[in-house]
Amino acid sequence: MPEVQMEEVRRFMKECLEATGVPGTEATEHAALLLQADCTGHYSHGLNRLEFYVKDLETGATNPKGEPRILKETAATAWVDGGDGLGATVGNFCMDLAIKKAKESGIGWVAAKGSNHFGMAGWWAQRAEKSGYIGMAFTNSSPLLVPTRSKDGALGTNPIAMAAPASGGDSILVDMSSSAVAMGKVEVKIHEGKPLPPGWAMGPDGKMTHDPQVAFDSGRLYPLGGVEETSGYKGYCLSAMNEVFCSSLSGAKASHQRPWDETRPGEHPNLGQVFVAIDPGCFAPGFGERLADCLQHWRNLPPVDPSLPVLAPRRDKERQHAEETRNRWENRLRT
Ligand SMILES: NC(=O)c1ccc[n+]([C@@H]2O[C@H](COP(=O)([O-])OP(=O)(O)OC[C@H]3O[C@@H](n4cnc5c(N)ncnc54)[C@H](O)[C@@H]3O)[C@@H](O)[C@H]2O)c1
Repeated sequence: MPEVQMEEVRRFMKECLEATGVPGTEATEHAALLLQADCTGHYSHGLNRLEFYVKDLETGATNPKGEPRILKETAATAWVDGGDGLGATVGNFCMDLAIKKAKESGIGWVAAKGSNHFGMAGWWAQRAEKSGYIGMAFTNSSPLLVPTRSKDGALGTNPIAMAAPASGGDSILVDMSSSAVAMGKVEVKIHEGKPLPPGWAMGPDGKMTHDPQVAFDSGRLYPLGGVEETSGYKGYCLSAMNEVFCSSLSGAKASHQRPWDETRPGEHPNLGQVFVAIDPGCFAPGFGERLADCLQHWRNLPPVDPSLPVLAPRRDKERQHAEETRNRWENRLRT
């Protein structure tokens, strides 16, 4: 596979966004979000998604100069209109607002309508974690998730993200779609020419498919957990909870009110998103130490296969991937 320098990917993405009218600072922020996805191994949400963002900017579905504004607020909450701006523009505004409220009131809960695809939900949760808060982020999406017993999709892949700081520089990051996988991972399988594992996708006939192209065209993903027999209804329930936060609360479109593969001319995706920051200092002293103890305890559990150690959610796997990416480049620059 050809390799491209990270800074070159960043420049390319930024300039593509700028070419559609996105201001430089916003293009830089959005490119950073996408680059982090590639660096941490989530190829479904990096450069792979650029074409999709550019298309939405060109058709006017996304407003390149869209600016979020507060519609209603209390000390701990805010309702925001994202102004149909880029996901990173809305995400930065809302999470920074949630952090400000958490600083002043212990918690900040911000719900936005009028947003666009904001990439990795974990990026936003981590923004709060890096400031010392528990961060959570949710977004609804398009009707790709097939509720248990249904033949048609209705809910989004609706990801859930939670991050928290632990002592000693450690942290936890849970960042997952409520579908078995994100649709971007099906696209990656198409590029790789590989079949889908069981429990990922349903064909148009209502049966499980292993063909990534059939799955992509069908636009039907199983909920997290797969079919009913393997507890897929729990993923359905998590996605439903996400929908309550993201669309019922914010007034954005529900996932089932939006086509998944295109936006109709003149229409905005009007995604709903929620950003939460919580100050752990408002609760029992020693949060960071106790969390660090949990993380270390899990990592030290005896593995079934000694070559595959138990990982703390997300952080370990992605840190490893980011380090490998960096090292590969440093070695290439040296040779
Ligand atoms: N914006 C959107 O509309 C949208 C929709 C869906 C997904 N996404 C994003 O796509 C990305 C990928 O989602 P996904 O559901 O495919 O994630 P995934 O299945 O790759 O990972 C899910 C979680 O499990 C953790 N994990 C994986 N292996 C582990 C192990 N062995 N031990 C412990 N933890 C482990 C990961 O670190 C992660 O926190 C996420 O960043 C998500 O936010 C975005």
